[in-house]
Order: sequence, then structure tokens, then C-alpha cells
Amino acid sequence: MNKISESIIYVGVDDKEMNLFENQYNTPNGISYNSYVILDEKVAIMDTVDKRKTSDWMKNIEKILDGKEPDYLVVSHMESDHSDNIANLVAKYPNMKVVGNLQTFKMIAQFFDLDLKEKSIIVKEGDVLDLGIHKLHFIMAPMVHWPEVMLSYEESEKVLFSADGFGKFGTLDTQEDWTCEARRYYFNIVGKYGTNVQCVLKKLSNLEVKTICPLHGPILSENLEYYINKYDIWSRYIPEDDGVLIAYASIHGNTENVAKKMAEILNQKGAKKVVITDLAKDDMAEAIEDAFRYDKMIVASSTYNMEIFPCMEQFLNHLKGKNYQNRKVGIIENGSWAPNSGKLMKEIFEKMKNITICKDLITIKSTMKENNIIQMEKLADEILDKECL
Ligand code: FEO
Repeated sequence: MNKISESIIYVGVDDKEMNLFENQYNTPNGISYNSYVILDEKVAIMDTVDKRKTSDWMKNIEKILDGKEPDYLVVSHMESDHSDNIANLVAKYPNMKVVGNLQTFKMIAQFFDLDLKEKSIIVKEGDVLDLGIHKLHFIMAPMVHWPEVMLSYEESEKVLFSADGFGKFGTLDTQEDWTCEARRYYFNIVGKYGTNVQCVLKKLSNLEVKTICPLHGPILSENLEYYINKYDIWSRYIPEDDGVLIAYASIHGNTENVAKKMAEILNQKGAKKVVITDLAKDDMAEAIEDAFRYDKMIVASSTYNMEIFPCMEQFLNHLKGKNYQNRKVGIIENGSWAPNSGKLMKEIFEKMKNITICKDLITIKSTMKENNIIQMEKLADEILDKECL
């Protein structure tokens, strides 16, 4: 078991069998459900774990407690991957108090049939739970990404328990880059709530933090400015990197050919980075991540039943739901008799905030022709021209 310090111990669990988190996000390297114990005069357990891992987690808790009873369960988030075992823990330790805010207890009543009248400690912004040497300061983080979310800052060791914040997909024993999977996690799960994340970052800017203990992924204890800076960029919806995402939706491969040719043209014209994704086959969550990562995007879609081809429509709906903004977009449509997807995609982008749409919408009639390539060269010039941003 991982010791954050002599008093703060990791008791979470890896779930290697989880391959579709929230029943929608591919997790090829599983996920961890993090939970911690703080040992002091009073003992606090920081969150429970998903019911898929009840028994492993309970064993971890028993081992660390070594016969002691916990005094508190601090609930920072009520989504099931962290709250599933609240009733089990309350049943096992009847003298333990449950610590949460008003919203937390409303949700506990929704998820469980539990009588916590004598066992609830209701906290609000700025309240402190005194464990002895360790003192937990509560920081409310509403809608990051649920209404009851709260962080805890332990002042003696300067540890921030950050709920889902700074979390990533992948088990703790996965050796992989933090940024890529944390970014995919952030934009898909928390992305809609950038303004709320900004509020929390403001509150954190007054604190000295030495360690971040999230509810998923590794404990962060070095170079914390890097992670906080990433969260600042992501939650302000500003592009992180100079590059073009080409997202395409192709029925029989003709639109795919256009997308690949577009990538070739952009590379020839010196684009710093070109990423291409097949929305019908590739990971949708990664396409969303890349849309937010780069400052430019070209969408290419077939027309289907006079509408946008479904996987493209789904992609654009996701972007809309996650407040996609502040980017430059080029549009290519394809259709064999009545191309219409371009107009419809344009209408979606026009409703988003601060999206610069390239002037010429390119229409392909079934297959790419010489004149289309000339149009694509022009589109590449326009989208790569930073002055137009
Ligand atoms: Fe990890 Fe929002 O639950």
C-alpha cells in the first residue's frame, strides 16, 4: 500500500477489468478508485470505492486500521465510483460519523436507505475538521462535476484531496503519460464546467499545496504547477497546442480520402501538427480531447438522409455539450445528389462561442476532383493563417 506520509495512507484499488468507464469511456488500462486513510488522534477515511472492488478495499482498510475504528468518513463526491460503499462502511463501523455538505446528505438519501441523523457532520466552505495534528479544511467545488463535490485541504502536511480533479483514466500501476489520459478524462467528464473549475482554482491559489490526492490516477507530489497550469488552460477553453484536428465521417471511404488528402496538404504547407480521426471507428472521447487540445479543426462529413452522418453529428453534439469555443474551424461536406451536411455543421458551429469558421465551405460530389484539391489548398492557407484567428 502506498504511503503518502506516515499518517496518510492510500487504501484505494485498481480496477483492471473496467474497460468502459461510466459505460461510455474506453479505459484500455482500467481505472483506479482512490481512497485514503488519515491516522491521527481521530481517524478519517477519505471516500469509499466502486462496488466492483468492495472486498479488496475493505481488506485495505482493515489492514491499515489494524483493529482501530475510524471516526469519520469524509465524502467528497457522491458519484457511485466513490460512494457505493458508504452504507457498507456505516454498517461495519456504527460509531463512525459521515462528513459531507448539505448536498452530500441529500444525495446519500437518494442512493441509500440510511438513518444518519446521529452520524452526520454537515460542513460548509471554510469549516475545519480537527483530527489532532491533521486538520481538514473544506473547499466547496459545486459542479466540478457534480453539485455536492468538495475538496479537503489538510493543513499540516499541505495535502489537497481533490475529488475527481486532477484524476485520469488508467490503473495506478499503468506506466503512461499523465497528460494525455488526464486531458481525455477532463474534457469528457468535467469539460462542461470550466467556469466552476476556474472558481476552485482561484480558491486553491491561496494555498500552499505539496501533494494532490485525486480520486483517480496517481498521487501528484512533484512539479504541481504543471498540473495546475494544465487545469487552468483546459478550464479556460483556450487551445493548448498549435495544430489541426481533422475529424471525418465517411460512409464508403470517399470522405476519408478527402480527409487524408487534407492532412497531406496541411503537412506540406507546414502545419505544426496534424491529427486525423475517423469518427466512425476511433475513440470518440479521444477525438473530443483533441478537438479541445488544438486551436484548429477541419470537419469532413458525408450527407446521410439529408442530415449529417450520425457519428459526426454525435461528435458535434458532444462538443456543444462541453462548451467547445475559441477555435478556428473549416468545413467539408460530401453528398452524391444533395450535399447538405456542411450547412448543418455550420449552423451548429455558429451557435458556439467564438468559433471562427473558414469562409469557403467545400462541397465534394461523391469523389474528390482536381478543383476540390484547389479548394482544399485554399482552406489550408486560410486555416493556417494565424492572423485570421
Ligand atoms: Fe470519479 Fe465523478 O466520479
